[in-house]
Formats: sequence, C-alpha cells, structure tokens
Amino acid sequence: MRVCVVGTGYVGLTTGVSLAFLGHEVTCIDLDQEKVDMLRGGKCPIYEPGMEELLAEASPNLTFTTSYADGVPGADVVFVAVQTPSAADGSPDLRYLRSAAESVAKNLDNEFTVVVNKSTVPIGSGNWVDAILRDSFAVRADKPEQCEFSVASNPEFLREGNAIHDTLFPDRIVIGSDNPRALEVLNHLYRPLINQTFTPPAFQPRPDDTTAVPLVSTDLASAELIKYAANAFLALKISYVNEIGQLAGKVGADITEVARGIGLDQRIGSRFLEPGVGWGGSCFGKDTKALIATASEYNYDMPIVKAARDVNQRQREIAVERLQSELRILKGRKIGLLGIAFKPNTDDLRDSPALDIAGLLLARGARVKLHDPIAGERFRREYPEMAPHLSETLDGVFDDCDAVVLVTKWAQYLELDWAKFVGLMRTPIVLDGRNVLDGDRMARLGFRYLSMAD
Ligand code: UDX
Repeated sequence: MRVCVVGTGYVGLTTGVSLAFLGHEVTCIDLDQEKVDMLRGGKCPIYEPGMEELLAEASPNLTFTTSYADGVPGADVVFVAVQTPSAADGSPDLRYLRSAAESVAKNLDNEFTVVVNKSTVPIGSGNWVDAILRDSFAVRADKPEQCEFSVASNPEFLREGNAIHDTLFPDRIVIGSDNPRALEVLNHLYRPLINQTFTPPAFQPRPDDTTAVPLVSTDLASAELIKYAANAFLALKISYVNEIGQLAGKVGADITEVARGIGLDQRIGSRFLEPGVGWGGSCFGKDTKALIATASEYNYDMPIVKAARDVNQRQREIAVERLQSELRILKGRKIGLLGIAFKPNTDDLRDSPALDIAGLLLARGARVKLHDPIAGERFRREYPEMAPHLSETLDGVFDDCDAVVLVTKWAQYLELDWAKFVGLMRTPIVLDGRNVLDGDRMARLGFRYLSMAD
C-alpha cells in the first residue's frame, strides 16, 4: 500500500520506517530540511536504539521530503504525527495539527484516503480534523472528481528506547473510525503485524512468546480515549507504588518486597510497579494533564488522575527533602545527579525528574553537578543556562561531593565501580532514586545508603 507520514518525530519516524520495513511504500514528510537531509543520508535525528539499522533495511521503500505534494497524492493512508505540545492551561496546542491537516487536504487526490491521527490528541479531535480537512478541501480550485477521505485514530503505545520492539511486536493494535471502509484499509495495512508474517530484522528477533497481535477495531472516540486511559493507568500504577513506598518507609516495611508481593498477583502485574523518583517523559505528564482538561470541559473532575500527578511531583520534592534531612544544610553543599534523561536509553529530557530535582536543589543554594551518558549534549543545547552544572565525567560529579542521587536507571550507573568513587566524596551519601542498588553492599563499601522510601 502507499503510505504517507507527516512529521518525523519519535512516533512519525518509527511508524514510517516500520511500515516501509513491512513492505509498504512510504513517504515521510517533515518541514525541517535539516532533518530530511539527515534521514536521506541514513542518519537518525533522535537517539533510538536500532532505528538506523531499520532505516537501512527499509530504505528501498522509503522516501523523505519536505513537500506534501511528494507524499499525499496517491496515498492510501496518510498518518499525521506532528507534535502536540501542552498549552499553558494543560490542553494540547493543536496548531501544528491544524496546519498539517490543511496541507494534507490541499494535496489529496486518491479515490479513497484514510487520514490517521497518530499524534496524541484530545478526545474529539478526530472530528475536528475531519472538519478542517473538509473545509480546506472544499475551497480547492483543483479538486479532483473522485476523491473521498475519512479520518481514523490509531494510537501509538511505543516506549522511547524500545520503539522498534514495541512497534514490530505490540501488545495490541488499536484502530478507530466511524467509517467501516477506513477500518478495512487499516486492517489491511496492519495485516503483516497482526499475523506476524514478516521476517524480523536480525538485530531485533521476534520474542519467543509472540503470537498473533490482537486488533481492537472500534469507533473514533473510543480509540482516542484508549490512548489516554492506558497512559494514565500506567502513571497511576507508578504513583501508587510510590505512595505505598512512603508509607512503607514510615512503618518500617521494605517497598521492594511489598512491590514484589503485590505484583505477583496477576490481576495487578509486576510491571510499572518500580518505586523511585517517579515518571517523566513526553507522555505521562502531558496525557494526564490533557485528560483532566478534557474532563473539565464536561464539568467532570478526575480526582484519581489528579492525585497521580500530585504524588509524582511530591516524589521529586521528597528526593530533595531526604538529602536535606541527612545533610541538614543544603546551602553550599555539592550534590551530584546521575542521569538527566527521563529514563535510560533515550536522550529525551522532557519532564525529566532530574530537571526538577536540580532546580529545587539550586533554589536551596546547593551546588549541583549533573551527568548523563547520552543526554548531556542535548541538555547543554536545550538548557544553556544550566550548562555550567553539567559534568562530562563521573570524577567531576563525585569529586568533593556531599551526596549523589541516582536519578536515571542507566546500565552504566548500575555497573559503576562504586568502590572507586567512595573515596572521592566529601561525605559518601548516595540516594537511590530508582531503588536499584544493593543497600547492604553500598554500606559495606562505605556509603551511607538512602532510599526514597526510608
Ligand atoms: C510511555 C508509555 O509506556 C507508552 O506506552 C506511551 O505510548 C508513551 O508513554 P515512555 O514515555 O517512552 O512511554 O516511557 P516509559 O518506559 O513508559 O517510562 C515512563 C516513566 O516512568 C519513566 O520516567 C520511567 O523511569 C518511569 N517508571 C517506569 C517508573 O518510575 N517506574 C516504573 O515501574 C516504570
């Protein structure tokens, strides 16, 4: 099938490259010439393991362009995967989506095209995009005679850092439209994924337990809500275990044991029950906020989702309070933060706990040094005012340091030669913000080991 993808961010690029890999003929459009040039040269503008390899494998079926006229005409499916940043009131800013929809409408010419909202958009946006498409199409002087189109939603559930795996071997595929013909087209598009009939790339073999992928084929509004409800639920799980973690600390229970004990109940499940400084990233914060904003348009309060957000914010503050209660005075103390990215295997800094924790420490007069194996460069670029606080080396973090906080669960930090660093520190305090270090071992090495849930 002929596919066009508008926007080559995380979601758009992964969608385009994967569909080309599965054998569809894909054109990716991005207005950013620099990005398009990079991608044409086989380079990936984002850090995502495996993406460049997949790009190379898919390249015979893949074209990159800055022009809608190169991609939309003749396409059976047009994916719109542009950014939807949060506006000041928490609702997503749909400016880019509007202009993308207008440009798509100006170039449609196929007998039937499905326009898929791949960006995470508020519930109801499908209808809104449909209206924009129809209005922009209606005023075209060069309207083709036989040209129908329909809007669908096809939410993305990929995790950054695992984008290729999650796209090729998803837990489910969700498609939503109020037009049965559009659902039929998408069903056809995803057949190789649903039936798992493709040969996986060498670097990403098919997991042993993969079977056919369930397809949820539903109406537009339900598909849109599924995305938000899923992300909010995952965020709730983490906030819940963090709330229980605080109580565990107070009653003298071990949150690791508690999380294991409850997670083994299959109705609860052990994934996304890892306690720590909490969630960050581009999705959970934005989506929970947008869900609350949508509900308030209907005069409905969402206390559970709001509480999940509050608990998450509080964890960041608790990290700083743990240090303060240990060191008493934070002013003038040197605190090292290990990890700036919101999670390992990405250089994404959006809503990263490290940024908030650094800000809170600086506001209390502490000296802060941040380190990250991958995200340092991006941090310097996106937060130039914070650049003096970046340390290229681990020695620069530990040297004369009063406490270090493990903020991101990078493998490099888990395998660190802690014995080497204990001697460099002024006071060898380590706060385990991801609950991943062996506290007894750290104590034997001479550290004062603090967890988030003491
Ligand atoms: C998430 C969803 O997983 C994905 O399905 C959705 O489409 C987009 O949002 P992502 O933001 O890439 O993906 O990251 P994810 O791996 O889900 O982690 C989110 C955050 O939660 C990270 O900051 C991570 O450190 C934190 N986390 C995760 C925990 O604190 N505890 C856990 O048990 C799991």
